Amino acid sequence: MKLLITGGAGFIGSNFVHLTLATRPDVHITVVDKLTYAGNKTNLADVMDRIRFVEGDVSNPTVIDSLIADCDIVVHFAAESHNDNSLRDPWPFVQSNLIGTYQVLEAVRRHGKRLHHISTDEVFGDLELDTTDKFTNDTPYNPSSPYSATKAGSDYLVRAWVRSFGIQATISNCANNYGPYQHIEKFIPRQITNILSGLKPKLYGTGAAIREWTHVDDHNRAIWTILDKGKIGETYLIGTNDERSGKKTLELILELMGKPKDDYDLVADRPGHDMRYSIDSTKIRQELGWKPEFPDFRAGLFATIGWYREHEDWWKPLKAEVEATYAEKGQ
Ligand code: NAD
Ligand code: TYD
Repeated sequence: MKLLITGGAGFIGSNFVHLTLATRPDVHITVVDKLTYAGNKTNLADVMDRIRFVEGDVSNPTVIDSLIADCDIVVHFAAESHNDNSLRDPWPFVQSNLIGTYQVLEAVRRHGKRLHHISTDEVFGDLELDTTDKFTNDTPYNPSSPYSATKAGSDYLVRAWVRSFGIQATISNCANNYGPYQHIEKFIPRQITNILSGLKPKLYGTGAAIREWTHVDDHNRAIWTILDKGKIGETYLIGTNDERSGKKTLELILELMGKPKDDYDLVADRPGHDMRYSIDSTKIRQELGWKPEFPDFRAGLFATIGWYREHEDWWKPLKAEVEATYAEKGQ
């Protein structure tokens, strides 16, 4: 089987490459990645001799057409992925997430290939803090940020191409991921690397916003479950039911790293901050038999802290610039 993985040098995509090589000896992998600030070839350094790597932009039809012609299945991760960046400059989000997905879809249509499109629970907007509501397959889309709006738009494009042109595609919307190789602009690695650098962790607003955390390997196992057993045209929501506030999450990081639980700064909140995400993942659990394998968030977080401790050479060169960008916004 020939797999084309878009965005395979990023956080989730590179973990997907590693998982696939470890578990699927019959799969030949091509990665196409634009190597934006978030894409890092080092993420694939130990497996470069076992894959084909193409530096290229999915929104460039010439690049994507021949790669899709030459594969059996496309797994589409490539996207601009950080909300805070989308508030500063939305254009790359429109370019990669909307136009990029459009070009992938057109090539998939031309060549009759199977597509799995990776999306996020953020397309649904947010839930009230004091409810037990969850996002389901019937929840209307209501995105808040330029990031989530472009992801919502890309999901709609996929659905339209399935219905209007009969392409063979599935979609998944996963909750927040964490694990190795996550860019240190994101919440969990930012706090871990702050502590490792002698800086205080930074919590937006009062730290009340709630996220549902899924280990990247559990997300990627769910993607393989969909590739193996998913029904064409269907959307699957992926989550762990492990919801906690930013404050509670940070307190756990501090505890696991041997620091006092109040050793952090409260900083400016994110404009338009989504307050709560919560996923009902019954469908993928019942229909396809997926469930998370990490025993719990504490175990996954402990392993992730260990990874950042052992890979200072991977994140240290990025740290000063990431923190300088946040400092400009008082975060
Ligand atoms: P990331 O920012 O770490 O990686 C994105 C990768 O895509 C990078 O390697 C980047 O170079 C590449 N890329 C960006 N634009 C491109 C383009 N035009 N052409 C080719 N490559 C391009 O992001 P991530 O966290 O790994 O997210 C991957 C996917 O999963 C995204 O579609 C994101 O919306 C989705 N997702 C992420 C999360 C999360 O918590 N991180 C949760 C659910 C869904
Ligand atoms: P983030 O990792 O950016 O993911 P998303 O915006 O996709 O949920 O942020 C996760 C949560 O953590 C979100 O509520 C914003 C908050 N946050 C902080 O409190 N401090 C930080 O330094 C960052 C980056 C995020």
